[in-house]
Amino acid sequence: MATFLIDLSPGDMQRRLGDALGIYVDAMRYPRGTEAQRASMWLEHTRRKGWTAVAVVEAPDRSPDDREAPTLSTAPLLGIAYGYCGAPDQWWQQQVVQGLERGGAGTSRISDLMTSYFELTELHIHPEAQGRGLGEALTRRLLAGRDEPHVLLSTPEITGEANRAWRLYRRLGFTDVIRGYHFAGDPRPFAILGRELPL
Ligand SMILES: CC(C)(COP(=O)(O)OP(=O)(O)OC[C@H]1O[C@@H](n2cnc3c(N)ncnc32)[C@H](O)[C@@H]1OP(=O)(O)O)[C@@H](O)C(=O)NCCC(=O)NCCS
Repeated sequence: MATFLIDLSPGDMQRRLGDALGIYVDAMRYPRGTEAQRASMWLEHTRRKGWTAVAVVEAPDRSPDDREAPTLSTAPLLGIAYGYCGAPDQWWQQQVVQGLERGGAGTSRISDLMTSYFELTELHIHPEAQGRGLGEALTRRLLAGRDEPHVLLSTPEITGEANRAWRLYRRLGFTDVIRGYHFAGDPRPFAILGRELPL
């Protein structure tokens, strides 16, 4: 079997939503059932400006005498990533602006950060496929050719930044925007990270 990176249209995401949410729940080690709470939000996100999604799928490697290209549109998912343009009516942007204000950021800093950015909203690789560079490949594909001057994301704080997500973001040059931030309704502290585009 070989792995392939593919782009997903909104229709592809709708069709593969159950599998994509399954990857998300397994990767984040959330309890089963979380998928159902997230489904309508993930679908709503597909309608946001600049929404782009990419996936890693697994398919039989093509042998030299095989004339058929592997069918990737139905190949099983190993990873999923998507994002869209940030906008003032989005809850995430409103939360981040509050965090910046609380941290003493001035209006020009907030405007520089929030006027035009790509939000990297979700990035997940199935646990059995982690640690092979697929997350980095997916991130690079998702961020390639964006018009926005920078990308922002949030990730749970981990002591010593000691997990694959943190190692990936640091390796790709993401720097701190806010640390130890509590989004409304979530007891966990998060970091907001960002970097200029292109990657
Ligand atoms: C974070 C996550 C997306 C990273 O994806 P990944 O495929 O596991 O990791 P990367 O693409 O960064 O791969 C790097 C690892 O692959 C190894 N690797 C092997 N071949 C590689 C290659 N060709 N290129 C790069 N790295 C390679 C590296 O040595 C590295 O191993 P290490 O982490 O043990 O040091 C994934 O681990 C994940 O889904 N985690 C759980 C969910 C999560 O935290 N999501 C982010 C929430 S904000």
